Amino acid sequence: MVKGSAMASSQIQGDRYDGAAEWYDERNAAPADANRDTLKDLLGPGGGLCLDLGCGTGQNLPALRGRGRRVIGLDFSVDQLGLARQRTVGGEALVQADAAVLPFADAVFDSVVAVWLSTDVDDFAAVLGEASRVLRPGGVLVHLGAHPCFCGPHTEGRADGGRIIHPTYRGAGWHPPAPWWREGGIRHRIGMRHLPLAELFNAFIGARLTITRVVEPSEEPIPWTLALRAEKR
Ligand SMILES: C[S@@+](CC[C@H](N)C(=O)[O-])C[C@H]1O[C@@H](n2cnc3c(N)ncnc32)[C@H](O)[C@@H]1O
Repeated sequence: MVKGSAMASSQIQGDRYDGAAEWYDERNAAPADANRDTLKDLLGPGGGLCLDLGCGTGQNLPALRGRGRRVIGLDFSVDQLGLARQRTVGGEALVQADAAVLPFADAVFDSVVAVWLSTDVDDFAAVLGEASRVLRPGGVLVHLGAHPCFCGPHTEGRADGGRIIHPTYRGAGWHPPAPWWREGGIRHRIGMRHLPLAELFNAFIGARLTITRVVEPSEEPIPWTLALRAEKR
């Protein structure tokens, strides 16, 4: 019963990208390039099975396999997976499923990455709980996504690189486009779920994932992105 309702709510989230995959893939190319070194650096070299959770159109698959791992991509959107398929190489699998209800046995993955997923799912704590369940003890999870303080429905970018923080920071939850989001941008079309900083960190703590490194990778004076490496206890 609980699993069924989780699936129903996430279905709405995943479906947001159906019909938008090619558009997303084009707009995400430059940001994905900019974040790739951070992702590779936090993950580090290693072997074994890696789960790309919310893999989207698969733009990170080459970087993940380039670090020596066998990759499985998982996403809810059929259209996103259609493009991801073109980026797979022999033996790599793609799975259509809800990140909050993973169709894998316990402790089968050596690593999990979740890139720009936290702001697309209803319940990131539930997603991390599942990621932790499928990770082997000592396994690594890399998260990269919106910096909760400086990127969200409460933040307005200024031309000089400054950021105005509106008093809606504590408004956790799903947000339709904020008035200051750039028209034609990904968040303007899709919306986003905002997780204040404490909610983000508590999701890791609750999932028994120990944060071992935190990075604010943007070259900009005020970062848009927060990335971290965590390990399964
Ligand atoms: C912003 S995109 C990021 C895609 C990819 N990680 C990247 O960096 O390009 C978020 C992705 O999460 C997927 N998604 C949203 N909710 C999901 C869920 N409950 N389960 C699995 N995937 C989900 C969407 O379909 C979308 O492809």
